[in-house]
Amino acid sequence: MSEAIRFILNGEEVTLGDFGPTETLLDYLRLRRRLTGTKEGCAEGDCGACTVLVGRLTEQGLRYESVNACIRFLGSLHGTHVVTVEHLAGRDGALHPVQQALVDCHGSQCGFCTPGFVMSLYGLWLSNQAPTRADIESALQGNLCRCTGYEPIVKAAEQVSQNRPSSLFDPLERDHIQIMAKLWSIHSEADTIVVEKDGARSIVPASVAAFSDILAEEPDATIIAGATDVGLWVTKQMRLLNPVIFINHLTELQSITSDETTITIGAGVSYAQAFDLLTDEIPSLGRLIDRIGGQQIRNMGTIGGNIANGSPIGDIPPPLIALGAELTLRTHAGRRTIALEDYFLSYGKQDRLQGEFVEKVCVPRPAEGSHFAVYKISKRRDEDISALCGAFNLTLDAEGKVAKIRIAFGGMAATPKRAKHAEEALLGKDWSWETVSAARNAFDEDYAPLTDWRATAEYRSLATKNLLTRFFLETAGAPTELRRFELEEA
Ligand code: FES
Ligand code: FES
Repeated sequence: MSEAIRFILNGEEVTLGDFGPTETLLDYLRLRRRLTGTKEGCAEGDCGACTVLVGRLTEQGLRYESVNACIRFLGSLHGTHVVTVEHLAGRDGALHPVQQALVDCHGSQCGFCTPGFVMSLYGLWLSNQAPTRADIESALQGNLCRCTGYEPIVKAAEQVSQNRPSSLFDPLERDHIQIMAKLWSIHSEADTIVVEKDGARSIVPASVAAFSDILAEEPDATIIAGATDVGLWVTKQMRLLNPVIFINHLTELQSITSDETTITIGAGVSYAQAFDLLTDEIPSLGRLIDRIGGQQIRNMGTIGGNIANGSPIGDIPPPLIALGAELTLRTHAGRRTIALEDYFLSYGKQDRLQGEFVEKVCVPRPAEGSHFAVYKISKRRDEDISALCGAFNLTLDAEGKVAKIRIAFGGMAATPKRAKHAEEALLGKDWSWETVSAARNAFDEDYAPLTDWRATAEYRSLATKNLLTRFFLETAGAPTELRRFELEEA
């Protein structure tokens, strides 16, 4: 067992054995290393002022991702390369082309957000040689600027991608081989790491088997993969967590595969890792992922974490419940599989036994000819938590009657929950406006939503019914039905 994590910070190898489990990368950079180019704005993963890149070894090679340093804990950095805005300076102090483009396009006024924008644009510049406008907007979704306006910043992104200078200008392209070699050498010493400070422990297991053994001995430990939720327990609620087990580095939990019937997603697969495959296989799910947080959050947050933490609103559980997903839970002694909908018992309580962790979720592909849609309702399109999130999975028979229907909502009850009364009101009936109109009120038997700062109970109830109407209009595709609906609502 080792007592320190090892990582690379810009050009320097770091061995760190004196940190607490909730010490953030941002505090480490600013307070201990005086790398103050990385800013603190919201401290909750919303504004992007703290954006840095974290590089890690993958099957495709060394991959850099933008992350929010404000909610990234030090214990999650073993075997990575952390890159801050200071590393972009040329040897003679010259600006990096990404920074120069921001200057040329007048992309900065007060400048507070600028280092975060630089790092997000730099991440895009490294990974995408010809970004589209949509790619640029997606890369910048997690960065807020309150004074410049986004057009000059987007123009800077376009300019720098159109005029790529020699790779000698870039420190990561220049040092690529050496960085990979260093990271391989860190990974080759595969050992479980336990760092203790003031009685609080950070545990970095060497493997999934080691993780399950440790969890059997420490069943009350907090498990952290992406920290996009737990990070806020610390920065907003000042919670003390001890011990913490970090699992974001466990590649065994990061496989995503698909066959003819099923998509299998390891619990450690991030939204970003899942995006391409899910967009190809279940486009509606891909569009949902594009609306979860900003790119930094999608790079950090995991699908397994979104399920495991049991949020009543969690964006991913409703569509996966509607698709009939199954969850595999594992302990050091074995595995069991349950329907995902049965995992959520009551508010804050899940069907997770002592020492058990979420290993993977198996998602049946929508049947040929079926209709599947997921809708997220929030106040802003980007970077907002859902007021409600609903998913519909419909199969019609040859006569146009409802052969199968599964509907699930988040944000409508203490847990993500199926609308079984509404399903019953639709099953076996013609998929017609008469059927749908009658079934709308069945939602009142399924859900008794709360009023909170995201939406009133009345709004949520009406939105649920209207989403069924929308799903009907999108799937029935009959303009006469649409006109009739509009007349009735007028
Ligand atoms: Fe706002 Fe980190 S400080 S996202
Ligand atoms: Fe002032 Fe963006 S330049 S916040």
